[in-house]
Amino acid sequence: MCGIIGYIGNRRATPLLMQGLRRLEYRGYDSAGIAVLDGNSLFCERTAGRIDALKEKIGERRPEGTVGIAHTRWATHGIVSEHNAHPHRACNDSLVIVHNGIIENYRELRAELQATHTFTSDTDSEVLAHLIESCHQGNLRHSVACALSKVRGTYGLVVMHADNPDLLVCARMGSPLVIGMGEHEYFVASDATPLLPYTKDVTYLDDGEIAELRRDGVRIYDLREKTVHKDIQRIEWNDEQAQKQGYDHFMLKEIFEQPVVFRDAVRGRKIPEDGTAYLGGLNMTESQMRNVSRVVFVACGTAYHAGMIGKYVFERLAHIPCEVEVASEFRYRDCVLDDRTLVFAISQSGETADTLAAVREARRKGAIVRGIVNVVGSTIARETDGGTYIHAGPELAVASTKAFTNMVAVILLYALQFGRLKHVSLADGQQFLQAHFEIPSKMEQILNMNDEIAAVARRYARYRDFLFLGRGINYPVALEGSLKLKEISYIHSEAYPAGEMKHGVNALLGPDFPVLAIMTKNQLYEKMRSNIEEVRARGSKVILIATEGDTDARQLGDDVLTVPSTIEALEPLLNTIPLQLFAYHAATMLDRDVDRPRNLAKSVTVE
Ligand code: F6R
Repeated sequence: MCGIIGYIGNRRATPLLMQGLRRLEYRGYDSAGIAVLDGNSLFCERTAGRIDALKEKIGERRPEGTVGIAHTRWATHGIVSEHNAHPHRACNDSLVIVHNGIIENYRELRAELQATHTFTSDTDSEVLAHLIESCHQGNLRHSVACALSKVRGTYGLVVMHADNPDLLVCARMGSPLVIGMGEHEYFVASDATPLLPYTKDVTYLDDGEIAELRRDGVRIYDLREKTVHKDIQRIEWNDEQAQKQGYDHFMLKEIFEQPVVFRDAVRGRKIPEDGTAYLGGLNMTESQMRNVSRVVFVACGTAYHAGMIGKYVFERLAHIPCEVEVASEFRYRDCVLDDRTLVFAISQSGETADTLAAVREARRKGAIVRGIVNVVGSTIARETDGGTYIHAGPELAVASTKAFTNMVAVILLYALQFGRLKHVSLADGQQFLQAHFEIPSKMEQILNMNDEIAAVARRYARYRDFLFLGRGINYPVALEGSLKLKEISYIHSEAYPAGEMKHGVNALLGPDFPVLAIMTKNQLYEKMRSNIEEVRARGSKVILIATEGDTDARQLGDDVLTVPSTIEALEPLLNTIPLQLFAYHAATMLDRDVDRPRNLAKSVTVE
């Protein structure tokens, strides 16, 4: 969603902010803008559309200033247009703001301010500029604190005033802001990606905090304006990881990184001699673990699919009843939780608003809440009482790929760790770990089939509808394959558990409705086979994901993509990869903006 970058230091702010905006592009946006203070004069330019359009608008006018703010907007209130793009100015043209979040009471505030202030946009954000202006009596931080005391909603906010050219003021409530610490230069951004070329030392603002950034340092206060002391953290990611490294798209690069990042996710977390895993971040004793009576996964989108796989493996290995909940439903439901319920919040970004709200709700109700998160230092990581980083590295394509497999990798280890305290034998645990150990080389084998998968995807890319089928642990894989296809290629697609077809979906089958089915050799193989026979009998083309050496599959599928065999619990780690590549190649064939699909944002920080 919206991206913010702010800078104060000794370098020219304009090129730095423009580069920062490019690094924020992956979050998804529809317009962009920049404001730089050149002495006491304020340069501000905005545009609907891409950053290249903003660059063109700025043209040769390059302000020399060394303090500025910039923003990529993802429209929520008000159409995509220049006048709705940020930065927003107050009436006297001295004060500018960039904002991420939603001001819920903006209508009331706007109605009050309209008598004395002229509004020029349809956004909720603009109200902040006028409100701060109306509170302003010289001290910018006091003015921001005063304005925010009247606001209901969420904000990641950065404010700049021409009368204070040596100061940026930032505030956070619900929408992330990270402050980067340099040598006599400071940065603020929605996430750490734009800071990577300059510094790895950061501090994360918490809700209700206001920061002043000056060239000689950063001071952080709470909303009552008391000083807050915060630790500086070191970002593990490097700038190289955040580049395409020769791939055409981030998504392709991230698909191909899976064998490597899988190893990172599991390194040091397996104990082969005991046939178990140890994820220390769980922060629970063995007796507390044995006392868990129920596991609930909460997540959104792709992370939710990882949670669905978690349900299968937890119930199978650990014999603990398990549920999976879409976070946006969970947060508003009267979910029954107690101190024996273990809630895992799964999130790549660690900032998804609904998942975060679910974490807060679960904690309020006394559940044990842990995170399975990629971005170190993210809000969910900080607000859970432990958990595990999945170590997938920066994921910059909007469509999640390597984070999904790493979420599954970590959940599988959790299931084993719990399972070994209950029902799983040493021999079974060791067999599981051996199969787990073989996964990266098997992933590589599938990635080597990229050209073959591309050829199949291109043959099917012109169909308008698609159906993905799976059963058991491969049903969530089918859902994930379908989500990947629709989000980046815009082909309509659905996913079903194959046994459910007779109850309605069969009506859709026919020559215009190809079916991609996961029919690997597991306990449901024969059932799946009969389901595919029925699909074929109704005239749909069939693409099969089948186990290597399955000669019957060749007769059943119009096209067959094979994967190496593994134990059933680990199949999703392999079976997902051909589906990711299928979606990728279908989308490139249709000339889609693969890394930045329309209407989608990488990090969904508003409800
Ligand atoms: C789909 C996708 C989204 C995210 C969802 C949750 O490819 O990426 O469905 O999985 O928005 O995001 P995180 O994992 O950051 O909470």
